[in-house]
Amino acid sequence: MELPKEFLIRMEKLVPNFDKFVYSYNNLPVKSFFINKNKISEEDFLAHCSWNIEQSERGWQLLEDFKVGKTLEHHSGMIYMQELSAMMPTTFLPLKEDDWVIDLCASPGGKSIQVANRIKSGLLVSNEIVKSRANILKSNIERMGLYNVCVTNNNPKELEDCFGGIFDAVVVDAPCSGEGMFRKDDEAILNWSQANVDACAIRQYGILETANKLLKQGGYLLYSTCTFSVEENEQQVANFCSRHNYEIVPLDYPNAQFGVKIGEYNTNYCLRFYPHQFNGEGQFVALLRKVEDCNQFISNEHYFKPINKMPTEYKAFKDFCEANLTQYQDITSNAIFSGNTIYYATNKQIAESGVRLINCGVVLGDVVKGRFEPHHNFVTCFGNRFRQTIELSEQDANKFIKGETLDCELSGYVVVKYNGVVLGFGKSSTGLKNHYPKGLRNV
Ligand SMILES: C[S@@+](CC[C@H](N)C(=O)[O-])C[C@H]1O[C@@H](n2cnc3c(N)ncnc32)[C@H](O)[C@@H]1O
Repeated sequence: MELPKEFLIRMEKLVPNFDKFVYSYNNLPVKSFFINKNKISEEDFLAHCSWNIEQSERGWQLLEDFKVGKTLEHHSGMIYMQELSAMMPTTFLPLKEDDWVIDLCASPGGKSIQVANRIKSGLLVSNEIVKSRANILKSNIERMGLYNVCVTNNNPKELEDCFGGIFDAVVVDAPCSGEGMFRKDDEAILNWSQANVDACAIRQYGILETANKLLKQGGYLLYSTCTFSVEENEQQVANFCSRHNYEIVPLDYPNAQFGVKIGEYNTNYCLRFYPHQFNGEGQFVALLRKVEDCNQFISNEHYFKPINKMPTEYKAFKDFCEANLTQYQDITSNAIFSGNTIYYATNKQIAESGVRLINCGVVLGDVVKGRFEPHHNFVTCFGNRFRQTIELSEQDANKFIKGETLDCELSGYVVVKYNGVVLGFGKSSTGLKNHYPKGLRNV
Protein backbone atom coordinates (compact mmCIF):
# COMPACT_ATOMS: atom_id res chain seq x y z
CA MET A 1 0.00 0.00 0.00
CA GLU A 2 1.51 3.34 -1.04
CA LEU A 3 0.72 6.09 1.46
CA PRO A 4 0.74 9.78 0.40
CA LYS A 5 4.24 11.30 0.87
CA GLU A 6 3.01 14.52 2.47
CA PHE A 7 0.97 12.46 4.92
CA LEU A 8 4.03 10.39 5.89
CA ILE A 9 6.24 13.48 6.40
CA ARG A 10 3.67 14.94 8.75
CA MET A 11 3.03 11.69 10.63
CA GLU A 12 6.76 11.10 11.22
CA LYS A 13 6.80 14.22 13.40
CA LEU A 14 3.55 13.32 15.15
CA VAL A 15 3.38 9.63 15.85
CA PRO A 16 5.45 7.59 18.36
CA ASN A 17 7.17 4.49 16.88
CA PHE A 18 6.70 5.79 13.36
CA ASP A 19 8.17 2.63 11.75
CA LYS A 20 5.61 0.46 13.50
CA PHE A 21 2.87 2.87 12.45
CA VAL A 22 3.90 2.56 8.78
CA TYR A 23 4.32 -1.21 9.09
CA SER A 24 0.79 -1.58 10.51
CA TYR A 25 -0.54 -0.65 7.05
CA ASN A 26 0.64 -4.08 5.82
CA ASN A 27 -1.91 -5.76 8.08
CA LEU A 28 -5.46 -6.48 7.00
CA PRO A 29 -8.19 -4.26 8.45
CA VAL A 30 -9.87 -5.68 11.56
CA LYS A 31 -13.47 -6.93 11.13
CA SER A 32 -15.50 -6.33 14.27
CA PHE A 33 -18.95 -5.87 15.75
CA PHE A 34 -20.78 -5.05 18.95
CA ILE A 35 -23.70 -6.95 20.44
CA ASN A 36 -26.98 -5.01 20.36
CA LYS A 37 -28.14 -5.42 23.93
CA ASN A 38 -31.52 -4.01 22.97
CA LYS A 39 -32.16 -7.33 21.17
CA ILE A 40 -30.10 -9.91 23.03
CA SER A 41 -27.90 -10.10 26.13
CA GLU A 42 -24.19 -10.66 25.65
CA GLU A 43 -24.52 -13.94 27.55
CA ASP A 44 -27.31 -15.26 25.30
CA PHE A 45 -25.51 -14.13 22.14
CA LEU A 46 -22.28 -15.87 23.14
CA ALA A 47 -24.14 -19.04 24.09
CA HIS A 48 -25.75 -19.00 20.62
CA CYS A 49 -22.81 -17.82 18.46
CA SER A 50 -20.81 -20.41 16.51
CA TRP A 51 -18.49 -17.89 14.80
CA ASN A 52 -14.78 -17.73 15.50
CA ILE A 53 -14.64 -14.48 17.51
CA GLU A 54 -12.52 -12.88 20.19
CA GLN A 55 -13.21 -10.01 22.59
CA SER A 56 -11.06 -7.06 21.62
CA GLU A 57 -10.88 -3.48 22.98
CA ARG A 58 -14.58 -2.69 23.60
CA GLY A 59 -16.09 -4.97 20.95
CA TRP A 60 -15.70 -8.35 19.27
CA GLN A 61 -13.27 -9.22 16.51
CA LEU A 62 -14.22 -11.70 13.79
CA LEU A 63 -11.38 -14.15 13.21
CA GLU A 64 -12.86 -15.68 10.05
CA ASP A 65 -14.01 -14.17 6.80
CA PHE A 66 -17.59 -14.49 5.58
CA LYS A 67 -20.47 -12.23 4.55
CA VAL A 68 -21.85 -11.12 7.92
CA GLY A 69 -24.54 -9.07 6.18
CA LYS A 70 -26.17 -12.29 4.99
CA THR A 71 -26.44 -13.90 8.44
CA LEU A 72 -29.49 -14.21 10.69
CA GLU A 73 -27.56 -12.49 13.47
CA HIS A 74 -27.25 -9.39 11.27
CA HIS A 75 -30.81 -9.51 9.90
CA SER A 76 -32.34 -9.86 13.37
CA GLY A 77 -30.28 -6.94 14.72
CA MET A 78 -28.41 -9.03 17.32
CA ILE A 79 -25.16 -7.38 16.20
CA TYR A 80 -23.89 -4.24 14.48
CA MET A 81 -20.68 -4.28 12.44
CA GLN A 82 -18.47 -1.40 13.49
CA GLU A 83 -14.76 -0.82 13.42
CA LEU A 84 -13.17 -1.17 16.90
CA SER A 85 -11.71 2.34 17.17
CA ALA A 86 -15.00 3.88 15.93
CA MET A 87 -16.69 2.20 18.91
CA MET A 88 -14.56 4.17 21.38
CA PRO A 89 -15.77 7.82 21.33
CA THR A 90 -19.30 7.33 22.72
CA THR A 91 -17.95 5.18 25.57
CA PHE A 92 -16.45 8.40 27.01
CA LEU A 93 -19.71 10.36 26.83
CA PRO A 94 -21.43 10.70 30.23
CA LEU A 95 -25.15 10.02 29.69
CA LYS A 96 -28.21 9.71 31.92
CA GLU A 97 -31.11 7.39 31.03
CA ASP A 98 -33.45 10.29 30.21
CA ASP A 99 -31.01 12.53 28.33
CA TRP A 100 -31.83 14.25 25.05
CA VAL A 101 -29.00 13.83 22.55
CA ILE A 102 -28.49 14.95 18.96
CA ASP A 103 -26.02 13.25 16.60
CA LEU A 104 -25.33 15.70 13.78
CA CYS A 105 -23.41 13.44 11.34
CA ALA A 106 -24.97 10.09 12.05
CA SER A 107 -24.99 7.71 9.04
CA PRO A 108 -24.57 4.74 8.88
CA GLY A 109 -25.41 4.90 12.57
CA GLY A 110 -22.90 3.05 14.76
CA LYS A 111 -22.49 5.89 17.25
CA SER A 112 -26.22 6.70 17.26
CA ILE A 113 -27.06 3.07 18.05
CA GLN A 114 -24.56 3.01 20.92
CA VAL A 115 -26.03 6.22 22.34
CA ALA A 116 -29.71 5.26 21.89
CA ASN A 117 -29.10 2.03 23.80
CA ARG A 118 -27.95 4.08 26.81
CA ILE A 119 -30.81 6.61 26.96
CA LYS A 120 -33.82 4.31 27.13
CA SER A 121 -36.18 6.94 28.56
CA GLY A 122 -34.53 9.79 26.68
CA LEU A 123 -34.49 10.82 23.06
CA LEU A 124 -31.96 10.77 20.25
CA VAL A 125 -32.24 12.96 17.16
CA SER A 126 -30.06 11.18 14.63
CA ASN A 127 -29.32 13.49 11.71
CA GLU A 128 -27.67 12.83 8.35
CA ILE A 129 -27.24 15.48 5.66
CA VAL A 130 -27.15 13.12 2.63
CA LYS A 131 -30.63 11.74 1.82
CA SER A 132 -29.51 8.31 0.58
CA ARG A 133 -27.32 7.90 3.66
CA ALA A 134 -30.19 9.05 5.91
CA ASN A 135 -32.25 6.16 4.53
CA ILE A 136 -29.45 3.70 5.33
CA LEU A 137 -29.33 5.19 8.83
CA LYS A 138 -33.10 4.73 9.23
CA SER A 139 -32.85 1.12 8.13
CA ASN A 140 -30.03 0.37 10.61
CA ILE A 141 -31.90 2.03 13.51
CA GLU A 142 -35.00 0.04 12.54
CA ARG A 143 -33.05 -3.25 12.48
CA MET A 144 -31.70 -2.57 15.97
CA GLY A 145 -35.31 -2.24 17.25
CA LEU A 146 -34.79 1.24 18.70
CA TYR A 147 -37.90 3.33 19.32
CA ASN A 148 -36.35 6.40 20.98
CA VAL A 149 -34.72 7.77 17.83
CA CYS A 150 -35.92 10.43 15.37
CA VAL A 151 -34.01 10.22 12.08
CA THR A 152 -33.70 13.57 10.30
CA ASN A 153 -32.20 14.63 6.99
CA ASN A 154 -31.01 18.20 7.46
CA ASN A 155 -27.98 20.31 6.96
CA PRO A 156 -26.92 20.80 10.60
CA LYS A 157 -27.27 24.58 10.14
CA GLU A 158 -31.01 24.18 9.40
CA LEU A 159 -31.50 22.49 12.78
CA GLU A 160 -30.63 25.73 14.54
CA ASP A 161 -34.07 27.05 13.47
CA CYS A 162 -35.86 23.92 14.72
CA PHE A 163 -34.28 23.63 18.15
CA GLY A 164 -32.47 25.86 20.57
CA GLY A 165 -29.95 24.85 23.17
CA ILE A 166 -32.07 21.97 24.44
CA PHE A 167 -29.82 18.92 24.19
CA ASP A 168 -27.93 17.36 27.10
CA ALA A 169 -25.30 16.10 24.67
CA VAL A 170 -24.31 16.69 21.04
CA VAL A 171 -22.33 14.16 19.03
CA VAL A 172 -20.24 15.39 16.09
CA ASP A 173 -18.53 12.49 14.35
CA ALA A 174 -17.34 14.81 11.65
CA PRO A 175 -16.85 14.18 7.93
CA CYS A 176 -13.06 14.24 7.64
CA SER A 177 -10.09 13.47 5.40
CA GLY A 178 -10.29 9.80 6.53
CA GLU A 179 -6.63 9.03 7.20
CA GLY A 180 -7.82 6.31 9.57
CA MET A 181 -9.57 4.63 6.63
CA PHE A 182 -6.45 4.02 4.53
CA ARG A 183 -6.28 0.28 5.35
CA LYS A 184 -9.96 -0.29 4.61
CA ASP A 185 -10.50 1.93 1.62
CA ASP A 186 -8.11 2.62 -1.28
CA GLU A 187 -10.31 5.56 -2.34
CA ALA A 188 -9.44 7.32 0.94
CA ILE A 189 -5.77 7.25 -0.14
CA LEU A 190 -6.55 8.40 -3.67
CA ASN A 191 -8.75 11.27 -2.42
CA TRP A 192 -6.25 12.44 0.19
CA SER A 193 -4.61 15.84 -0.26
CA GLN A 194 -3.63 18.70 2.03
CA ALA A 195 -6.27 20.79 0.22
CA ASN A 196 -8.91 18.26 1.26
CA VAL A 197 -7.68 18.33 4.86
CA ASP A 198 -8.11 22.13 4.83
CA ALA A 199 -11.58 21.89 3.23
CA CYS A 200 -12.66 19.35 5.87
CA ALA A 201 -11.44 21.64 8.65
CA ILE A 202 -13.65 24.47 7.33
CA ARG A 203 -16.69 22.16 7.18
CA GLN A 204 -16.03 20.91 10.71
CA TYR A 205 -15.85 24.51 11.97
CA GLY A 206 -19.41 25.10 10.70
CA ILE A 207 -20.80 21.88 12.22
CA LEU A 208 -19.24 22.69 15.59
CA GLU A 209 -20.83 26.17 15.54
CA THR A 210 -24.24 24.47 15.17
CA ALA A 211 -23.37 21.98 17.93
CA ASN A 212 -22.73 24.87 20.29
CA LYS A 213 -26.15 26.39 19.54
CA LEU A 214 -27.98 23.10 20.21
CA LEU A 215 -26.22 22.24 23.47
CA LYS A 216 -27.58 23.07 26.93
CA GLN A 217 -25.47 24.89 29.50
CA GLY A 218 -23.44 22.22 31.31
CA GLY A 219 -24.01 19.72 28.45
CA TYR A 220 -21.37 17.60 26.72
CA LEU A 221 -20.07 17.92 23.18
CA LEU A 222 -18.43 14.76 21.85
CA TYR A 223 -16.21 15.47 18.84
CA SER A 224 -14.56 12.69 16.87
CA THR A 225 -12.96 12.03 13.50
CA CYS A 226 -11.29 9.07 11.81
CA THR A 227 -8.30 11.13 10.76
CA PHE A 228 -4.96 12.14 12.25
CA SER A 229 -4.36 15.69 10.97
CA VAL A 230 -3.96 18.23 13.78
CA GLU A 231 -5.95 20.79 11.75
CA GLU A 232 -9.06 18.61 11.92
CA ASN A 233 -8.51 17.49 15.49
CA GLU A 234 -6.70 19.36 18.31
CA GLN A 235 -6.48 22.61 16.33
CA GLN A 236 -10.21 22.44 15.61
CA VAL A 237 -10.91 21.88 19.34
CA ALA A 238 -8.55 24.68 20.42
CA ASN A 239 -10.10 27.13 17.93
CA PHE A 240 -13.58 26.18 19.14
CA CYS A 241 -12.56 26.75 22.79
CA SER A 242 -11.17 30.16 21.82
CA ARG A 243 -14.62 31.15 20.51
CA HIS A 244 -16.81 29.58 23.22
CA ASN A 245 -16.72 28.90 26.94
CA TYR A 246 -15.99 25.14 27.16
CA GLU A 247 -13.72 22.95 29.25
CA ILE A 248 -11.92 19.96 27.76
CA VAL A 249 -12.59 16.80 29.79
CA PRO A 250 -9.52 14.59 30.44
CA LEU A 251 -9.79 11.17 28.75
CA ASP A 252 -7.64 8.09 29.16
CA TYR A 253 -7.37 4.64 27.61
CA PRO A 254 -4.45 2.18 27.82
CA ASN A 255 -3.87 1.72 24.07
CA ALA A 256 -4.38 5.36 23.09
CA GLN A 257 -2.10 8.36 22.73
CA PHE A 258 -2.83 11.73 24.34
CA GLY A 259 -3.63 14.59 21.99
CA VAL A 260 -1.18 17.29 20.86
CA LYS A 261 -1.16 20.34 23.15
CA ILE A 262 -2.12 23.55 21.36
CA GLY A 263 -1.16 26.80 23.13
CA GLU A 264 -3.01 27.36 26.38
CA TYR A 265 -5.71 24.75 25.61
CA ASN A 266 -5.77 21.31 27.23
CA THR A 267 -6.02 19.51 23.92
CA ASN A 268 -3.61 16.92 25.35
CA TYR A 269 -6.70 15.67 27.26
CA CYS A 270 -8.06 14.35 23.93
CA LEU A 271 -7.19 10.87 22.66
CA ARG A 272 -5.70 9.52 19.44
CA PHE A 273 -6.15 5.88 18.47
CA TYR A 274 -3.42 4.68 16.10
CA PRO A 275 -3.46 1.39 14.17
CA HIS A 276 -0.09 0.24 15.60
CA GLN A 277 -1.14 0.79 19.24
CA PHE A 278 -4.84 -0.04 19.18
CA ASN A 279 -6.51 -3.00 17.44
CA GLY A 280 -8.38 -0.81 14.95
CA GLU A 281 -8.03 1.66 12.10
CA GLY A 282 -7.69 5.04 13.82
CA GLN A 283 -9.75 7.68 15.54
CA PHE A 284 -9.52 10.99 17.37
CA VAL A 285 -11.84 11.89 20.24
CA ALA A 286 -12.43 15.01 22.31
CA LEU A 287 -15.01 15.52 25.04
CA LEU A 288 -15.98 19.12 25.84
CA ARG A 289 -18.28 20.43 28.55
CA LYS A 290 -20.18 23.67 28.02
CA VAL A 291 -19.48 25.88 31.00
CA GLU A 292 -22.62 27.25 32.67
CA ASP A 293 -23.41 30.88 32.15
CA CYS A 294 -25.83 31.97 34.89
CA ASN A 295 -27.37 34.64 32.65
CA GLN A 296 -28.62 32.15 30.07
CA PHE A 297 -31.64 29.91 30.42
CA ILE A 298 -33.30 28.23 27.47
CA SER A 299 -36.53 26.27 27.83
CA ASN A 300 -37.39 23.33 25.54
CA GLU A 301 -40.99 24.52 25.20
CA HIS A 302 -40.17 27.69 23.32
CA TYR A 303 -38.98 25.84 20.22
CA PHE A 304 -41.92 23.55 19.65
CA LYS A 305 -45.20 24.04 17.88
CA PRO A 306 -48.56 22.51 18.91
CA ILE A 307 -49.37 18.85 18.25
CA ASN A 308 -51.74 17.90 15.37
CA LYS A 309 -55.19 16.48 16.03
CA MET A 310 -55.79 12.78 15.32
CA PRO A 311 -57.71 12.10 12.09
CA THR A 312 -60.39 9.37 11.71
CA GLU A 313 -57.88 6.71 10.46
CA TYR A 314 -56.95 6.31 14.09
CA LYS A 315 -59.80 3.80 14.55
CA ALA A 316 -58.47 1.23 12.01
CA PHE A 317 -55.08 1.44 13.66
CA LYS A 318 -56.51 1.11 17.17
CA ASP A 319 -58.61 -1.91 16.10
CA PHE A 320 -55.45 -3.55 14.73
CA CYS A 321 -53.62 -3.00 18.01
CA GLU A 322 -56.51 -4.34 20.06
CA ALA A 323 -56.72 -7.50 17.93
CA ASN A 324 -53.00 -8.24 17.62
CA LEU A 325 -51.10 -6.84 20.58
CA THR A 326 -51.15 -7.80 24.23
CA GLN A 327 -50.20 -4.30 25.39
CA TYR A 328 -50.53 -1.16 23.29
CA GLN A 329 -51.86 1.87 25.23
CA ASP A 330 -48.49 3.65 25.14
CA ILE A 331 -48.27 3.00 21.38
CA THR A 332 -51.74 4.33 20.48
CA SER A 333 -51.39 7.35 22.74
CA ASN A 334 -48.07 8.32 21.10
CA ALA A 335 -49.22 7.70 17.52
CA ILE A 336 -49.03 10.50 14.98
CA PHE A 337 -49.99 10.67 11.30
CA SER A 338 -48.44 11.94 8.13
CA GLY A 339 -50.46 11.26 4.99
CA ASN A 340 -51.56 7.62 5.27
CA THR A 341 -48.65 6.61 7.46
CA ILE A 342 -48.85 6.19 11.21
CA TYR A 343 -45.79 6.60 13.36
CA TYR A 344 -45.02 6.00 16.98
CA ALA A 345 -43.53 9.33 17.93
CA THR A 346 -40.75 9.03 20.44
CA ASN A 347 -41.49 12.66 21.02
CA LYS A 348 -44.45 14.38 19.41
CA GLN A 349 -42.93 17.83 19.65
CA ILE A 350 -39.86 16.81 17.63
CA ALA A 351 -42.20 15.69 14.86
CA GLU A 352 -43.73 19.16 14.84
CA SER A 353 -40.51 21.12 15.09
CA GLY A 354 -39.96 21.71 11.38
CA VAL A 355 -37.11 19.22 10.84
CA ARG A 356 -37.01 17.14 7.63
CA LEU A 357 -38.05 13.84 9.17
CA ILE A 358 -37.09 10.42 7.81
CA ASN A 359 -38.56 8.71 10.86
CA CYS A 360 -39.68 10.16 14.18
CA GLY A 361 -39.52 7.02 16.27
CA VAL A 362 -41.12 3.97 14.69
CA VAL A 363 -42.99 3.59 11.39
CA LEU A 364 -46.04 1.62 12.52
CA GLY A 365 -47.82 1.21 9.19
CA ASP A 366 -50.19 2.64 6.60
CA VAL A 367 -53.95 2.98 6.46
CA VAL A 368 -55.05 1.69 3.05
CA LYS A 369 -58.75 1.82 2.14
CA GLY A 370 -59.74 2.05 5.80
CA ARG A 371 -57.53 -0.90 6.86
CA PHE A 372 -54.30 -0.70 8.80
CA GLU A 373 -51.28 -2.49 7.27
CA PRO A 374 -48.35 -2.88 9.68
CA HIS A 375 -44.78 -1.98 8.69
CA HIS A 376 -41.67 -4.10 9.36
CA ASN A 377 -40.46 -1.41 11.77
CA PHE A 378 -43.55 -2.00 13.96
CA VAL A 379 -42.37 -5.54 14.74
CA THR A 380 -38.62 -4.82 14.95
CA CYS A 381 -39.53 -2.56 17.90
CA PHE A 382 -42.74 -3.97 19.35
CA GLY A 383 -42.77 -7.54 17.96
CA ASN A 384 -42.52 -9.06 21.44
CA ARG A 385 -45.97 -7.69 22.26
CA PHE A 386 -47.75 -9.51 19.39
CA ARG A 387 -50.21 -12.21 20.43
CA GLN A 388 -49.13 -14.65 17.70
CA THR A 389 -45.44 -15.52 17.41
CA ILE A 390 -43.54 -18.53 16.11
CA GLU A 391 -39.95 -19.59 16.69
CA LEU A 392 -38.21 -20.70 13.48
CA SER A 393 -35.50 -23.30 13.00
CA GLU A 394 -32.26 -22.00 11.45
CA GLN A 395 -33.30 -23.53 8.13
CA ASP A 396 -36.73 -21.86 8.12
CA ALA A 397 -35.29 -18.55 9.37
CA ASN A 398 -32.93 -18.54 6.38
CA LYS A 399 -35.89 -19.21 4.08
CA PHE A 400 -37.76 -16.34 5.75
CA ILE A 401 -35.03 -13.76 5.12
CA LYS A 402 -35.01 -14.87 1.46
CA GLY A 403 -38.70 -13.94 1.30
CA GLU A 404 -40.06 -17.50 0.98
CA THR A 405 -43.53 -18.57 2.16
CA LEU A 406 -43.50 -20.85 5.22
CA ASP A 407 -45.95 -23.42 6.58
CA CYS A 408 -48.00 -22.07 9.46
CA GLU A 409 -51.15 -23.29 11.19
CA LEU A 410 -52.04 -19.94 12.73
CA SER A 411 -54.31 -17.40 11.10
CA GLY A 412 -53.69 -13.62 10.84
CA TYR A 413 -50.59 -11.59 11.65
CA VAL A 414 -47.71 -13.69 13.03
CA VAL A 415 -44.35 -12.42 14.30
CA VAL A 416 -41.45 -14.75 13.52
CA LYS A 417 -38.46 -15.15 15.80
CA TYR A 418 -35.08 -16.79 15.55
CA ASN A 419 -33.26 -17.71 18.76
CA GLY A 420 -35.92 -15.73 20.65
CA VAL A 421 -35.20 -12.53 18.69
CA VAL A 422 -37.77 -10.96 16.36
CA LEU A 423 -36.87 -11.31 12.66
CA GLY A 424 -40.04 -9.95 11.03
CA PHE A 425 -43.65 -10.91 10.42
CA GLY A 426 -46.03 -12.47 7.97
CA LYS A 427 -49.75 -12.91 7.44
CA SER A 428 -51.00 -16.45 7.67
CA SER A 429 -54.02 -18.15 6.08
CA THR A 430 -53.01 -21.22 4.04
CA GLY A 431 -49.33 -20.54 4.74
CA LEU A 432 -47.31 -17.66 6.12
CA LYS A 433 -47.18 -14.91 3.48
CA ASN A 434 -43.82 -13.30 3.97
CA HIS A 435 -43.71 -9.57 4.81
CA TYR A 436 -39.94 -9.34 5.18
CA PRO A 437 -39.10 -6.15 3.22
CA LYS A 438 -37.90 -6.87 -0.33
CA GLY A 439 -34.90 -4.55 0.02
CA LEU A 440 -33.60 -6.49 3.04
CA ARG A 441 -33.97 -10.02 1.64
CA ASN A 442 -30.99 -12.29 1.02
CA VAL A 443 -30.87 -12.87 -2.71
C1 LIG B 1 -17.72 9.88 9.78
S1 LIG B 1 -19.26 9.79 9.02
C2 LIG B 1 -20.33 9.44 10.37
C3 LIG B 1 -20.29 8.03 10.88
C4 LIG B 1 -21.34 7.76 11.93
N1 LIG B 1 -21.24 8.71 13.01
C5 LIG B 1 -21.29 6.36 12.49
O1 LIG B 1 -20.85 6.16 13.62
O2 LIG B 1 -21.74 5.44 11.79
C6 LIG B 1 -19.63 11.46 8.68
C7 LIG B 1 -21.00 11.73 8.11
O3 LIG B 1 -21.12 13.15 7.91
C8 LIG B 1 -21.88 13.39 6.74
N2 LIG B 1 -21.59 14.75 6.22
C9 LIG B 1 -20.97 15.11 5.07
N3 LIG B 1 -20.94 16.44 4.94
C10 LIG B 1 -21.54 16.95 6.01
C11 LIG B 1 -21.84 18.27 6.44
N4 LIG B 1 -21.47 19.33 5.74
N5 LIG B 1 -22.51 18.42 7.59
C12 LIG B 1 -22.88 17.34 8.32
N6 LIG B 1 -22.61 16.08 7.97
C13 LIG B 1 -21.96 15.88 6.83
C14 LIG B 1 -21.48 12.27 5.81
O4 LIG B 1 -22.48 12.06 4.84
C15 LIG B 1 -21.27 11.09 6.76
O5 LIG B 1 -22.42 10.30 6.81
